Parts: sequence; structure tokens; C-alpha cells
Amino acid sequence: MTGDASVRAAILGTGGVAHLHARTIAGLGDVTLVAVADSSEERARAFAGEHGSPDVLADLPSMLAGAAPDVVHLCTPPAGHAEQAALAFAAGADVIVEKPPANSLAELDTMLRAGEVAGRRLAVVFQQRSGSAVRHIRGLLQAGALGRPLVAQCDTLWRRGADYYAVPWRGTWAEEGGGPTVGLAVHQLDLLAHLLGQWSEADGRFWRLAHDIEMEDVSQGTVVFESGAIATMTTTTLAARESSRLRIDTELATIELEHLYGHTHADWRITPASGVDPAVVSGWALPDLEERSGHDALLGEAYRAIADGAPLPAVFADPARALEIVTAMHRAATAGRSVRRAELSDPALRGPLHAPVEVP
Ligand SMILES: NC(=O)c1ccc[n+]([C@@H]2O[C@H](COP(=O)([O-])OP(=O)(O)OC[C@H]3O[C@@H](n4cnc5c(N)ncnc54)[C@H](O)[C@@H]3O)[C@@H](O)[C@H]2O)c1
Repeated sequence: MTGDASVRAAILGTGGVAHLHARTIAGLGDVTLVAVADSSEERARAFAGEHGSPDVLADLPSMLAGAAPDVVHLCTPPAGHAEQAALAFAAGADVIVEKPPANSLAELDTMLRAGEVAGRRLAVVFQQRSGSAVRHIRGLLQAGALGRPLVAQCDTLWRRGADYYAVPWRGTWAEEGGGPTVGLAVHQLDLLAHLLGQWSEADGRFWRLAHDIEMEDVSQGTVVFESGAIATMTTTTLAARESSRLRIDTELATIELEHLYGHTHADWRITPASGVDPAVVSGWALPDLEERSGHDALLGEAYRAIADGAPLPAVFADPARALEIVTAMHRAATAGRSVRRAELSDPALRGPLHAPVEVP
């Protein structure tokens, strides 16, 4: 951090998601958005006009040199994240990067190493992990209060039209880096893995039914967790009624979440198995004080750690896990067999995502 009391934040990439970052920064109180940059100067200027008139700079190097930010938010397409993070770290800034953090595990390895070398933090925005409901339910699962997790379903059933894929960086392996399984379902998958912990094996299949893109618009996968829990996952961008769903059946209860882009307590349900003592069940109730999931909750936690000079809190742990699982799904589709987590230590499997996409 620089000398003044307020943390200096800067945003690279002023498209859709950057507005959530700017609004969150404005609500944090002791953080000031000092600069923005975008490869479209016009978009950056309009954005700055909406969000307190930070300086508009031409690109990341001039933003780092001209604004000396303490924290750089990378709200750019994933293909640029690794190089941009390295520049920001080298300039002494912490980095908050949008999901997916990189287009490959190898790139994410490089980002994490660059942060370590520079002594700076890399916070990945998986905001579905945030909020009081997840904190509470994860605590119950980790304490064994709901018994062993057994079976899970993780579904991202969204709808995206041709307008969504008209954006130049979407729809190609080279630019977007993968289809909706890594681009959209990674939120639900990350939440599932945040709740269930380390995974051991995964497989996947990918199909294209309707969109004019290189990647899938439907995928299915199976993930085996170290606990022995088995999860199935369905992803599509062709759903008429959109829904994000998670269901975990444990020995003592069924945990269900249904929402779209962010959840509140009302979106969660815990149903006890018959015969579970009501006194035990009452201990599962969500806390009275609700913090809803979202960028506000997640970035708030990051900035509290940054202001205190503390390591990032546990909500940011394991930033690679969901990307590992999607990578294993891709490698499994190519190999025609499931892939174990240990196999991903092979550098040849940590490169860009790519999978055969079936067209029925
Ligand atoms: N967490 C979430 O809920 C969420 C939601 C949407 C998008 N995202 C993620 O945020 C990122 C951006 O997505 P988006 O929907 O905002 O995309 P977008 O296309 O709306 O915005 C990206 C912006 O980055 C700019 N840009 C591209 N390359 C640049 C560069 N090298 N230097 C400066 N500017 C550059 C583009 O001009 C554009 O304005 C992606 O990684 C996406 O997956 C996350």
C-alpha cells in the first residue's frame, strides 16, 4: 500500500463484470478507484464517468506507472490474465482476478508463483463461495454434523444466445479458452468443491447441439471426491428455464440450493433424513444474520486482508480446484477414460483446455 489511508484500486477491462467491481469498491469506504484502462478507450471513458471519474489510462503498463495502484482488478478475458497479473505483481500490486483465473493450469501456476515471488496476493473471484449460508453449511460438513457426504448433483442450466457469442473473445478455443463448462459452470463446480473438499477422479463428455461456436453447449461429468462422495454435473447454455442447482445427499440430510447468479438464505434447504433427532436438526439452522453471496461479500473479505497486511482468508483457498476438475473432464473426454487428480501433475496435461466435442 502507498502512504495515504485509502487503498488505491485500479480496474483493467471495463466491460460487463467490471461494473460489479466498481460498485463494490465504492461501497467499501476506505478504498478508492483511482484508475481504469480498457483496450477500448471509449468504453473506459464511459465507465469512468459512471464510477466516480477515476483516471483513464491507455493500458496496464501506463496504469501501473501512472496510478501506482495497491490493488489491480483484472476484469479482462481470461487469455490475458497470466501476463497482466505478472505485470501487476512486478509493480508491487495485489491482484484480484475474475474467474476463470487463467486459460490453463500451467498459466495459473505461473500466476501463483509470480505472486509468491513478489510477496503479493492473488485473489480469484469465485463469489458463489461467499456469504453466510456457504460458511455455515461448509462448517457443518467439515465438522461431520451432517454425516458423510455421499451423492451430489451440480447443474448449471443457463441460456445464452447468439448475441452473447458475438463478443469477439467468446466462442473459440484460442480466445475464450473453453466452453460454458469452464466459463459458466465453473461457479457451481467451485462451490461444490468448496463444500466437499479435495477431489480424486473425474470424467466428462462434451456436445454441441445448437450454437455456432467451437466448443460445447452441453456437457456432463462425474467427479469422485476423496471423501468417497460421487457428484454428477450437467452444464448447458440451452435451458428454457434457467437454474443453478446443487444437491448434496449426506448420511443425515439432503442439502439443496437453487438460484441463478447468487444465493440468499432463502435459496438453501436442509432436509433431515427420517429419524434424525429434532434437537440435532435445530443445530443446522442458518444463522439469523445473513450475508448474501456476491462480489460485495467476497471482495470485502479480500480488502479486509489487504488493509491488514494479512494472508487471504480461507474463502480464497484452493483457487485451482475447479479449473483442475474441468481440465480432468477435458483430458478424460480425449482419453476416453476417467482421469485421476494425480495425473494432472504431468505438465503435458496442464496446458490449454481442449476436448473432442460430439455433434449428434
Ligand atoms: N464472476 C462473475 O460472475 C463473472 C461474470 C461475468 C464475467 N466474468 C469474468 O470476467 C471476465 C470479463 O468478462 P466480461 O463479461 O466483463 O467481458 P466483457 O467482454 O464484457 O469485458 C471485457 C473488457 O476487457 C477489455 N479488454 C480485453 N483485453 C484487454 C486488454 N488486454 N487490456 C485492456 N482491456 C482489455 C475489453 O475491451 C472489454 O471492455 C472474464 O474472465 C469472465 O469470465 C465473471
